[in-house]
Amino acid sequence: MIVDPESVREVLSNKSGHFGKQLFSRSFKLLGNGVVNHDGHICRGKINVVEITNSRVCAVVTLLNICRFFPTKNNRRMKEIDREIHKILREVIGKREKAIKNGETNDDDLLGILLESNMRQSNGNAKLGLTIEDVIEECKLFYFAGTETTSVLLTWTLILLSMHPDWQERARQEVLTHFGRSIPDFDSLSRLKIVTMILYEVLRLYPPIVLLTRRTYKEMELGGIKYPAGVSLLLPIVFIHHDPNIWGKDASKFNPERFADGISNAAKHQGAFLPFGGGPRICIGQNFALLEAKMALCTILQRFSFELSPSYTHAPYSLITLHPQHGAQIRLKKL
Ligand code: HEM
Repeated sequence: MIVDPESVREVLSNKSGHFGKQLFSRSFKLLGNGVVNHDGHICRGKINVVEITNSRVCAVVTLLNICRFFPTKNNRRMKEIDREIHKILREVIGKREKAIKNGETNDDDLLGILLESNMRQSNGNAKLGLTIEDVIEECKLFYFAGTETTSVLLTWTLILLSMHPDWQERARQEVLTHFGRSIPDFDSLSRLKIVTMILYEVLRLYPPIVLLTRRTYKEMELGGIKYPAGVSLLLPIVFIHHDPNIWGKDASKFNPERFADGISNAAKHQGAFLPFGGGPRICIGQNFALLEAKMALCTILQRFSFELSPSYTHAPYSLITLHPQHGAQIRLKKL
């Protein structure tokens, strides 16, 4: 478990090339065995994930993973859902392929780019592009990585702004000053200061992904300690985000003010804010996620004030993403 931000940064930046991605378990892969789970790939052109050197079966199979494949009711349902998702995606892909072939659509969105790569493959060079299976896995991954994380970010934001009505009001005033009651435009969203500070502070206290994992490919020295090849390294983002030595005595308090001068001035250590990971494998959706969260939050702030219902119980719980274990019971009042 590596908690010193300097060492975490060294692992994530992977300059030596010897800290690789930890492979997901087979059950985890059901969520989307796409780019997040590949290592050692070569990118040519736009998105070409080829030469996946790291798709060997994991050496360590935990008991939990074995249990996933017993034919229990839940496991059967999981497989059923996986089949359903594949079917839906195949239909979406089939329609798009037809439209591209008939010249009815351009390919400037993600699915278009993935399919372009696949079509290059079908032009005879199997090494160049993605297979349709790859495209399906990337679609699953983008859907999962993109919805679950952003949705828990918004959930925690509503909870924290309910707990801190002064910040809720400051955010609302900023939104109303910029947009009034009209739909926010994308350019102005990036100029919102208070809303951005709030989202950063929520990501610090409740990072949707609490832990990153890597493994050593060969013997490595890190922070004066030697690790042999094949060691799992846990990078607990949530601990680093709550460390008073890094963030000051009020590390456990909700204080968006700490981000008033940007991320690099918020903590004693510049690389200590890691909600999107870091290095070459940093989240590729981070700008999109922040934009989406701002858009949703602005829309809510323009129309409603909100507070926690008495039935709310504060119980952060990490199951892939960090969410409120008993839900977020929030009362909305129309403005
Ligand atoms: C608040 C929202 C989000 C958070 C907190 C988040 C967090 C992260 C983190 C921590 C990683 C690094 C994983 C690692 O290093 O092992 C990551 C990777 C990734 N994220 Fe996000 N993410 C968010 C939103 C999104 C969105 C909206 C998308 C896509 C539309 C997305 C797509 C991805 C992908 C494809 C990767 C894998 C990148 C790679 O391995 O090279 N994420 N995300």
